[in-house]
Amino acid sequence: MSAIFEQVLVHPSQFPDRVYQDYLVSFSGKQINHKFHYDSVKQSQKWLKIHQEYSPSRTNEDCVDAYEKCFQKTAEILDKSRNLQLIGLGSGGGTKDSLLLSHLSNQQPDLVYYPLDVSLSLAIISAQKARSSFPELCVQPIVCDLLHADDLMLQIHKKNEQEIRIITFFGMIPNFPPQQIFPILNNFLTEGDLLLLSGNLSPGSDYVQGIEKIMPQYDNELTKDWLITVLEDVGVNRENGKIKFGIKDDEQNPNLKRVNANFELNNDISFKLDEQLIEWKSGEKIGLFFSYRYTTAKLKEILSSYGINILNYWEAANQEEGVYLCQKESKE
Ligand SMILES: C[S@@+](CC[C@H](N)C(=O)[O-])C[C@H]1O[C@@H](n2cnc3c(N)ncnc32)[C@H](O)[C@@H]1O
Repeated sequence: MSAIFEQVLVHPSQFPDRVYQDYLVSFSGKQINHKFHYDSVKQSQKWLKIHQEYSPSRTNEDCVDAYEKCFQKTAEILDKSRNLQLIGLGSGGGTKDSLLLSHLSNQQPDLVYYPLDVSLSLAIISAQKARSSFPELCVQPIVCDLLHADDLMLQIHKKNEQEIRIITFFGMIPNFPPQQIFPILNNFLTEGDLLLLSGNLSPGSDYVQGIEKIMPQYDNELTKDWLITVLEDVGVNRENGKIKFGIKDDEQNPNLKRVNANFELNNDISFKLDEQLIEWKSGEKIGLFFSYRYTTAKLKEILSSYGINILNYWEAANQEEGVYLCQKESKE
């Protein structure tokens, strides 16, 4: 049956008052929360275009192959007699989740797909993509901010104890500090659940040189045009400063580095958000974006500190991306 309405569940973490608070904090704290880069239809369309142009998962056959192999393996190890939930955390355009579904959809008896994103636009795009390939599939899009949703997995009810969960977390770990995101991810997992995640890696044997090599995937006009949109919305534009990319240490773990983008102001600027006056001074840096780059060894170490085992992994031949099939350790 083709539905006229798209039914989307909205978690309280994305209710307007909460979002507006996060918005104010972004501007008063001079660090833009990443979720505000995907918020509007305009931004999500710009991001999808960048993704298509620069993401190895779209431009590199060998990287697509790494995902294929991971999905094949996942389908092999699943118990076919049990119901299955696929929860795509930060599903974006949903391309990877749909590829995974193509390996699962005809063998699991009862499968429900929950594409979840902070962006309404992207959650719906993921849902529509899955539905267009698998018209019989049960799909329930969710809008949610993972950083404020401790109760999320309780809200996504399991039909019974036997139901298996696959949680995907593709392209997500780069956009959060590890000390913020891994405890949250760990909290979402229960014993036996499968976690499929991908990491943007630093290729080669020299970690810093590897990051320098992939820098053009970020430091380019399309990306700058996407990142400045959030500032243009409050009246700040390219005449007021420049977007500069660099490599920065993680504050708590100097062995881990990230690609960092700041907007460096070349004049004083002030604007009002609601009743709050925001004043930025010439020379100040506004944190716009970052992307952590891992290696498989670094990722393994962090995951194992949370009791999450990598069962198998596949790196693209150019080592720019890795796909990891993981499971939470049992307590006994
Ligand atoms: C780099 S994209 C990855 C998209 C997709 N998984 C992929 O691999 O193509 C990051 C996604 O995370 C979403 N996102 C960002 N912050 C989020 C948050 N706090 N909670 C939930 N989703 C978030 C964005 O809207 C975007 O779709």
